[in-house]
Formats: sequence, C-alpha cells, structure tokens
Amino acid sequence: MNVPMLDLKAQYVPVMGRIKEALEGVFAEHQYIMGPPVKEFENKMADYLGIKNAIGCASGTDALVLAIKALEIGEGDEIITTPFTFFATASSISRNNATPVFVDIDPLTFNLDPDKIEAAITEKTKAILPVHLFGQCADMDSIMAIAQKYNLKVIEDNAQGIGCTWNGKMSCAFGDIGTLSFFPSKNLGAMGDAGMCMTNDDDLAFKLRQLRVHGENPKYYHKWIGLNSRLDTLQAAVLGVKLDFLETWSKGRRANADFYNSHLKNIPGIRIPHIDSRAVSIYNQYTLVCEKRDELMAYLKSKGIGCAVYYPLPLHLQECFSSLGYKKGDMPVAEELSLKVLSIPIYPELTDEQKQYVCETITNFYFG
Ligand SMILES: Cc1ncc(COP(=O)(O)O)c(C=O)c1O
Repeated sequence: MNVPMLDLKAQYVPVMGRIKEALEGVFAEHQYIMGPPVKEFENKMADYLGIKNAIGCASGTDALVLAIKALEIGEGDEIITTPFTFFATASSISRNNATPVFVDIDPLTFNLDPDKIEAAITEKTKAILPVHLFGQCADMDSIMAIAQKYNLKVIEDNAQGIGCTWNGKMSCAFGDIGTLSFFPSKNLGAMGDAGMCMTNDDDLAFKLRQLRVHGENPKYYHKWIGLNSRLDTLQAAVLGVKLDFLETWSKGRRANADFYNSHLKNIPGIRIPHIDSRAVSIYNQYTLVCEKRDELMAYLKSKGIGCAVYYPLPLHLQECFSSLGYKKGDMPVAEELSLKVLSIPIYPELTDEQKQYVCETITNFYFG
C-alpha cells in the first residue's frame, strides 16, 4: 500500500469545480494584481480568525519580513525565537538586520519554553517571535505576560497553526502581528506561494499595506523601503474557495491523530504528540519522538509510507548563523529532538485502511 506524506490530488477532488469557477472569474476580469479576490479573501480570513485586519502578501516568509519591518525592528535589535522551526522564522529577523536570539523549547510541545525566555532578554530585545509548531499554539498566556512585563512586541509565526487555539482564543489574536503561510502543504494551501499578516492594530495594518507595495503612499511616493510582496489574485481566488473547507479538514486531521494516538500510544520506543490541555491543535504535522528514528524512517519508506524529519538541524547550528556564536549543546532539547522526531502522514483524506497500515507497519518495526 502507498501512503504519501500529503495527497494533494485527493485534497482537490471536492474543491476543483469551485476553484475552476473562481479562476474563470479572474480570467474574465484580467485584474491579476490586487484584483477583487484579494480583498474578498482578506475579509474572509479576518472573519474566520476574528481579527480586524488581514493583509495578504506573497509568502509566509514575506509576512514575517513585513511584520518585523512594520514594527521598525532592525539593526542593533534582538528578537527572541525558537531554534526548532522552519528557517524563515529566523532568516526574516536577519533580513531586517536584527539578531535572532534562540531560546530552547519545551520537550513535550516542541514550542518555545516560556520559562527560559526571561534569561535571554537584554536591553536590545525588542520582540518575542513564537512559532505555533506543527499546528499547536505556543503558551501564549505566559509569552504575553513576559512581553507585557518587559514592554516587548510579539509576532506569532502561525505558518503551521491556522485555526489553532489557546484557551479558546485563536492563534494570531494574541500578539501585535500574526503571520500565515499558504504554502501548498499547509492546512490551507494555495496553488503556489502566498502569505498573510493579521493584526488588530489599524495603524500597523495601514503600514503593512504600504510596505507590501514598496512602502508607497500615494502611488510613486515612498515613505519606506518596502517589498514587492502582494498576494496574487489567482491565489486569493483559490484560497477563498478552500477556506470554506478548512474547519472540516482540521477536524479530519484531529480524528486521524486520535486514531494514531490510540494505536501507537503503547509502543515502547515511541512517544505520541503531547497536546497541552489548553490547546486545540490543527495537526499540520503529527510528529512522533522515536528511538531508532533513522531506521524507522528507512523502514516506513521501504513499505511505501511517506514520512519526514522536521527539523534535522536546529537553527542555532546552521552554517549561515555561525557568526551568532552558538555551539552544540546550547539548546539541548532542540538538539535531542532533531535526532528523534519523525512526522507521519496526517492529511484528512487518509483512508481507514491507510491509517491502519501505518500503525501496523510501525508496530511491526518495534515488535518485529
Ligand atoms: C514555521 C514557518 N515559518 C515560516 C514559513 C514560511 O512560509 P512560506 O514557505 O510561505 O514562505 C513556514 C513554511 O514553510 C513555516 O513552516
């Protein structure tokens, strides 16, 4: 049996008719830059997340770059973040000439450990940038309390967590700005690159709207040096259709996680994902902590089961950040997990047979 890591073909079956209609609408108007579907999708996202302003842009990476720029954080400033995340979380800080300061993660949730943040705060610290990794919200009560105490900004990297909640409140609604990625493998994926900034602050929203078009207002007058980073009209049309399905898809992922949890929880050598009792995850990934990880990965692949390591090398040890002066052993939790994590297919279209097969194959690996 074949169980890919993600099955986009299956995902698009129920939505393709409506997407084609929406795209035909764009083709009829030829308004490829900032056409009506952009504003329509922004409004729909603002409603869905319960946040006043949604500002579409070209990618989740650009959303982070724009967010940091809008908060005027740059040269000589520090932003505290996690080393256990996709590269863009930290590169967006460096691309604004600010310095990423890494703080180790909680071993159970893989998210930024709030208990370790205060020790990393200096006079240069301007913001905290938590990531809602794999679809589980970071401990935003603790992070916001620290931010308030030290007068720091908060940017939520919600690329992997669209629709996840903490104490009943939507991610992106805690910090000054929340960012989203619509990379095709995300729970809400475009047919290419796309991203978004979310904020309840109207002034920041106004600035973000200018920054995504070269910092211009009015046309050809530039207050800031911004980016060329608009949300593509065609992508907005696709995303507007798919957003109607997001809650159902997230429920499907949670049901799959329940299935896996019940079948895998008693296998020695494996730890199933830990979801904090205050969090509702959207399971962008279902990530096991395993003994003999590399052997398990090879075994699953040999049996036709897709799996992946997110992430094999924590960011503080990446070559491009060597000038920051971190060394092996500085972030022991992230470093250990990078050797033990393995994500397995969790997409909502998985069939019962596929899930059963994944669980049986993992069980066979450990029990022979
Ligand atoms: C945590 C995190 N941050 C940022 C990004 C960047 O998003 P994009 O690929 O849309 O630029 C991603 C996704 O790839 C991500 O997973």
